[in-house]
Amino acid sequence: MENLEKIFEGAQDFLPLLGTDYVELYVGNAKQAAHYYKTAFGFQSYAYAGLETGVSDKVSYVLKQDKIRLVLTTPLTSDSAINHHIVKHGDAVKVIALWVEDATKAFEETTKRGAKPYFEPIIEKDAYGETVRSGIHTYGETVHIFVERKNYHGIFLPGFQAHTSEYNPTEVGLKYIDHMVGNVGWNEMNTWVKWYEEVMGFVNFLSFDDKQIHTEYSALMSKVMSNGNGRIKFPINEPAKGKKKSQIEEYLDFYESAGVQHIAVATDDIITTVTQMQQRGVEFLSAPPASYYQAIPQRLGKHFGLLKEDIQTLEKLGILIDADEDGYLLQIFTKPVQDRPTLFFEIIQRMGAKGFGAGNFKALFESIEREQAKRGTL
Ligand code: FE2
Repeated sequence: MENLEKIFEGAQDFLPLLGTDYVELYVGNAKQAAHYYKTAFGFQSYAYAGLETGVSDKVSYVLKQDKIRLVLTTPLTSDSAINHHIVKHGDAVKVIALWVEDATKAFEETTKRGAKPYFEPIIEKDAYGETVRSGIHTYGETVHIFVERKNYHGIFLPGFQAHTSEYNPTEVGLKYIDHMVGNVGWNEMNTWVKWYEEVMGFVNFLSFDDKQIHTEYSALMSKVMSNGNGRIKFPINEPAKGKKKSQIEEYLDFYESAGVQHIAVATDDIITTVTQMQQRGVEFLSAPPASYYQAIPQRLGKHFGLLKEDIQTLEKLGILIDADEDGYLLQIFTKPVQDRPTLFFEIIQRMGAKGFGAGNFKALFESIEREQAKRGTL
């Protein structure tokens, strides 16, 4: 991937993105979801908006861990649009918010190129200054909200108050969002690849077809989109025909539309992070067979000498490992974090590698298929 910089030069600069600002989930019970993400994932109580702060129709808890801000929102009335989202999709990612210098320009540039508006630029103020936010629709009912916060010094957004708690489990070492993956319908991957290219100025820097991503039973295709500075990476998956049902198709059946499949969060020490998360009740996909770990020297090739982690520990925890020409990476996937087999998390530690663990796809998908078989959806 030495041509990465050259590929990124192809990205357009009409939409400079500074990073992921926050991810908002619409959930049935934000109070309980906050407890789960604090206890199991090590997020910290950070900010709050709800009845006590003058908001009458919904409640939002903002949780934080290093650079990651997770917003958990629940409606307070039956006729709320948020409720319709929850009825259709279950607990789900609604908003991938992107931090920008100029949210008005971001809205104008993207809608001019064909984005469907979610809401026009709006200035929100409180005693700590003002923010400008605007929003556009992406795949399914998912939206991107552009957040301009250069004139704001409050804790999160106007209307939110700092939130402290008596209950503060420690962090587990999650640092930032590495990538967020969208699942789209049959034959829709290229539509959305084109959308991210034309509307957002992204580039397609990696592609995997169903010949690369398949097991004995199922298949999928994936293209990785990135913005120009490489801070925002959105792989887009679509199902492919196999002997049995693709995991992407299972997702689409239960989510009832396109949507966010997984949030990948980075750690510097995956062994400590995953050990703690397992102790706190997070369920991960089962480990591949012993032969997978015996093959690690061949899998890592020239990077094997750089491996700092103990293979037996990786095997015990079920952590996967892959390499590309720039280095290696360690990764593991949780089981779905709600009852519908939809959203899950990935924990990733990059040791130079810039890829997405293509060498692990087969082992990973066989593990997912073991879960699908238990659900009767393979
Ligand atoms: Fe991933």
